[in-house]
Order: sequence, then C-alpha cells, then structure tokens
Amino acid sequence: MSIRIDEKGRLFSLETAHTMYQIKADEIGVLLHVWYGPRTDADMSYRIRTMNRGFCGNPYEAQDRLDYSLDTLPQEYSGSGVGDFRSSSVEGEGADGSLSVDWRYSGYRVLKGKEKPEGLPGVRGNAETEGLEIVLEDKVSGLAAHLSYWLFEACDVIVRSVRIENRGGKAVTLTKAASMCADLPYGRKQVMHFHGRWAAERNPERVEIPSGGRLAFESRRGMTSHQSNPFIILCDPETTERQGDCAGVMLMYSGNHLEEVSADQVGSIRVVCGIHPEGFRWKLAPGESFRTPEAILSFSAEGLNALSRNYHRLIRDEVIPARWRGMKKPVLVNSWEACYFDFNAEKLLKLARSAAALGMEMLVLDDGWFGKRNDDTNSLGDWTCNEQKLGCSLKELSEKIHAEGLKFGLWFEPEMVSLDSDLYRAHPDWALTDPGRDPMVARHQLVLDMGREEVQDYLFDSISAVLKDAQIEYVKWDFNRSVANVYSRALPADRQGETAHRFMLGTYRLLERLTEAFPDVMIEGCSGGGGRFDAGMLYYCPQIWCSDDTDAVERLEIQKGTSYGYPICTMGAHVSACPNHQTGRTVPFATRGVVAQAGTFGYELDPAKLTEDEKKAVKEQIAVFHRYEDLIEQGDYYRLDEGEKDYTAWMFVSPDKGEALVSVVATHVRANAPFPFVRLQGLDPEKTYLREDTGERLTGAALTQGGISLPQFLGDYPSVQIHLTVCG
Ligand code: GLA
Repeated sequence: MSIRIDEKGRLFSLETAHTMYQIKADEIGVLLHVWYGPRTDADMSYRIRTMNRGFCGNPYEAQDRLDYSLDTLPQEYSGSGVGDFRSSSVEGEGADGSLSVDWRYSGYRVLKGKEKPEGLPGVRGNAETEGLEIVLEDKVSGLAAHLSYWLFEACDVIVRSVRIENRGGKAVTLTKAASMCADLPYGRKQVMHFHGRWAAERNPERVEIPSGGRLAFESRRGMTSHQSNPFIILCDPETTERQGDCAGVMLMYSGNHLEEVSADQVGSIRVVCGIHPEGFRWKLAPGESFRTPEAILSFSAEGLNALSRNYHRLIRDEVIPARWRGMKKPVLVNSWEACYFDFNAEKLLKLARSAAALGMEMLVLDDGWFGKRNDDTNSLGDWTCNEQKLGCSLKELSEKIHAEGLKFGLWFEPEMVSLDSDLYRAHPDWALTDPGRDPMVARHQLVLDMGREEVQDYLFDSISAVLKDAQIEYVKWDFNRSVANVYSRALPADRQGETAHRFMLGTYRLLERLTEAFPDVMIEGCSGGGGRFDAGMLYYCPQIWCSDDTDAVERLEIQKGTSYGYPICTMGAHVSACPNHQTGRTVPFATRGVVAQAGTFGYELDPAKLTEDEKKAVKEQIAVFHRYEDLIEQGDYYRLDEGEKDYTAWMFVSPDKGEALVSVVATHVRANAPFPFVRLQGLDPEKTYLREDTGERLTGAALTQGGISLPQFLGDYPSVQIHLTVCG
C-alpha cells in the first residue's frame, strides 16, 4: 500500500520505492509537513516539538498554548497574514480588501487514475496511478485549497499541485498561488540552482542557505528563462554525486516562476515554488477555481546522480508524449549555422544531397523560409512560404528533399510577430503592448497575446496549412525574446494581472491542438537555444535545443548542468563547424561527435564543406550513434567527474547492467601528467566487463572502486569513448 492513512484520518504517509512523504492534520486542523526522506513505517511526527520562542503568536483557538505557533510549526501549505511570518504559499485580496488566509484541514480523498490537469501540462500517469487530495479551508474568505499528491513509486517521485476554489459568495483576487510548500525536516543546508544567460544555460551552483534569510530563484521574463531554471535541489553539505541526501523540486511550467528557499529562526528550511507572484493577480468569482502548475518532487539518499536518474526516468516515461517514448530519432542536419538566412531551394538541395551521402536522415530548414524574411527584421507571423526566395513551393522543396532520402523539418516562432509583418499591420492589438506607451522591441519583434482565442486560432490555421501542404516530419518551435509590456487588449483592467499566465495557457492550448492534429510531427522546443527548457514544454516537445552555443567544450558544461534535471534524450545537441561560430574555438571533430552524442545527436553545418577525413568521420559517428542509441537515450546516465577540473566524464549503463559506454573529454591536457583513472558507476560489482578498445577484463567492483584507466591525452580537447560489455 503506497498511501497509508491512520484510523483518525489525520496522518498521511505517501510511500514510493525508497522514500516517504508524511503530512499530519493536527488537533486544531493545521496541516503540518512531517517528513520527506528515506522510507520508514514510523509516525515521524514525534520530531515536531514546540516551545515558546517569543514573538511567535498563537492562533486564536490555541491562545493559551504559548508554545503553539504557526510561525514555528512545519507547514505543508502556509497561509498568509495570520502569524506565520515565513514565505506564504497563497495570498489574496477579499472583496473588502482583507488580505489574510488561514487554512484549516477539512478532509481528504484517496485518488486513483491521474488525468491531465485542465489547460496545463501534467505528469501523465495512468488509470492505476494513486494519489491523495487534502482539502484546506479558510472560513472567512471562503477559499478552499485542494492539495493533490500523485505517487510515481518506481521513480521515487511525488507530484504536487493545488486547486484553489472560491467557495464563498464574493469574488477573491489571488495574488500568489504556489504549487507547493514544505518545511523540510532536517539538514539540507544547501541549495543547488541552475543559472545562466543566453548561450550559457543551466550552470549548477551550490550555495548555503543563509540563517534567517531567503533565497529566490526566479524568472519574470514571461518564460522559463536562460537565467534561472525552475528546478532546485536541496542537499546536505556532504552530499556528492555518489552519496548523501538530496531533494529536488521542479516546476512543470514555462512562464514566470519563483522558487523560494528560506531558513527560519531555528534553521528549518522552507521551500515554496510556483508561478511568480509578481504581477500576478487572478480574479476568482464565487464557484471558480484556479489550478496551479504541477511541482515534481523527488528525494534520494544516494546522492545527486540517483536523484537525476529519478527525474530522467519520470520525464522519459511520464512527461514526453507517449508517441516519442523510446523512439529512434533521425540524425538531422540543421540549416541555421550552415547558411543562416542565405539559402534557396538549390542550395538546400545541395546540402540535402551531401547530407544524405554521409548518412544523415533529416534536413531541418531553420529561420528564413517565410514571408519576405532574409534577416531577422521582419515577417514573423506571416507563415506562408517565400517562394520567390526559395524558387519553388515548400511542397516541391519537401518532395525533392524526400527524394534524396531525407525527412524534412521546418522552423517556426509561433508566439511572435514582427513589427514589419502583414499580421501586425492587420492586427496590432494582437501583440502585448501597454496603452499609450511604445513597446519594448527585441530582435525587431513583439510577443503575441496568446491568451486570445483568435490568436490561437490564427496560428493553428496558418501552421496547419503549412503542415498539411508539404510533407513535414518535424517542427522546431522557437521563442526568441523575453516578454514585456504584459498588457492584453482583450482583458478588462481588473484582469490584466492574468495576462502572463493566460499567455502560457494559450501557448499550451495551441501546442495541444497541433500535437493532436499532427501526432506524427515531432516538435523540438527552442528559445534562443535553451531559454525554455522545462518539464512543461517537454510534455509537448520530446526534445529541446539545449543552447545556441554549439562549441563542444562549452556544451560539456551546459549539457552536464541540464542533466541534473532532464534526460539525455531531451537535449538537442549537434556537431557544428570550427572555428565555432560562438567562441571561435577549434575542437577536434571526434570530440564534437562525442559531445553531441550526449544528446539527440545531429549536425549544424554544411556537409559539402567538410574535408574528406571529416566526411569519413561523420559516417563513423552516425554508425556509432546508431549502435549505442538505445544505451544513450534510454540507459542510466551518470556524471563521473566529481570536482575534476581536467576532464569531463560521463557514462551510460543499460538497464540490465550488461553494457556501458564511458565518454571522457580532456579539457586541459598537462605534460607528464599522473595516470588518469575515472571511477565508474552503475555497473554490477559481481560481473566481469570486457573493455572493447583494450581487451581488458575487469569486474564491476574493480571499475567502480579503482576506476578505468584513460589514455595519456595529447593535444587540444581530445576525447575517448569506451564500450564495456559483460563477459562473465
Ligand atoms: C534561435 C535558435 C537558433 C535559430 C535562430 C533562428 O536563436 O536558438 O537555433 O533557430 O533562432 O533565428
């Protein structure tokens, strides 16, 4: 039984394979967070102790218990304005202007069968998925919070979300509605977050949580952002890749987000995560509900690699569309770095022909095929083929590319409109702009008001027309600016605070409609590289272009940072030309292949311009990728370079531990260096493995404890791939 409830219906224990999450409604109905950690059968609430700590008031019904305070008790979903002075989970404004929310437990329901949350992406589950709903009520405002918990036992994941219902007789405006809150029971004094900038996304940083202070990781850009991913890991200072406690919180959302981590006066750690409250105001009429995005929680007592694998499994099995689960994807060549805006059908066909000759399987035509677009100053929104530029129709081009034996993909940036476009000239009010103010322009474009149905319909119709007209197997869905001037011409003044979230709901709805109408078209997410890399987009797009930085050495860090929360099969990664277009660096062709093979694997160059040696290398790389594709995309992934500065190493292990692939890139080669060894992980200690390149036979135990020996590296950024198979 994975959900245990005591006979009084007040202590709830949610068990996954190795973890337990416990919640308790106490005697006055305050919902307490009791435990999130290793699995145990015990009632862990013995750990909740109380004392009068001074300046911590008492709820009215417990006014004589000076030791009992909302300010010191571990809360499961904090209220606001009633004596818990830590981060609130929910804030609102009643019809009379009152601001407080004071939750009390009102009941629970055991759930079976997970359905998609209406309007939002959600972790999928099935008819057997078990869950729990706990209902809290605030008597005065009439608000009720339906906290739901879904158990993904095998992945050690708990998915939380909240539906806030207005059961009262008057409208309430929500100004904060977090997806989750928890006061964690012990330790976890550090938080790992993933910061960045354009072309340098998801850098892991581990910071101390300051005593009595609060850390905020956030995006107010109307999108997930390059700057801060909606994923954090709480860990003990001793936690490493291989050992120690850690707990992840990932928001399944692609818009403004906030992850708050604070340490209270006695060191208890509170995490609150959800839609960013800044600028958020959602009016709830009587009877209406607001549903938060889901938060994906996981705990591991066995270090960061194990935690990452929980997320990898969950995203592979329960987030990306079932249609693409475990699918072999075509090795593609993307036109962007090969020709940018400078192409016509003839040039593309040449590219296709040379790509096909080397074994590539799909040509993706990137930006520049529509409207009158020859640079980034115009035409977004005008999704009709620029036949004058191409010299033929898209249908003809697609036919010719297919005749070369390649599939065909196409770039769109649906949520944007260029100032210089027919769409903007016809519907200036469809863009987000402030009344009486010149809008912020970025890359000569504005952002469409995706919350409007007519905008969604226009995009559905124009994108559908292209997808129906020509044979297109793949869409790259881009998003190339941050959102500002968040004002909708379609909403009244008192609903403007809904615009940013309605924008996301509109985008999700469009993705929903298009993926339903064209189930065989695979969508790759993108946002100036990896600016919208999150579980919400992965619900529709089984892969996301990881970064606009295609330099293999830079990619080592970007892909490694991404791997903490997201599986390898979701990371768009290509071999590009050198000197690299972003850094000017030259990295050996072989190393570029090894790095792109820790992702979806493809090319971003003109194959006709390669040397004969490089062409040979492409053919070999594609053969190697296909040989190990299942292992790479579906195997267990381990980061191996713990604090090691001179190389980056990782490995994939097949689920039955019968096979492994170890990849190492030396980032700093030193003269007369010590013999390098990398300690492997995930192997069966009892089994003997054959090392393909040297013929050496070593046990899993030896390789894990003593490591695998690496060659003495020479030159700039050399790499090695080592294949191991069980031989006894
Ligand atoms: C973004 C993408 C690139 C490319 C360009 C086209 O920057 O990340 O890969 O598609 O847009 O304008």
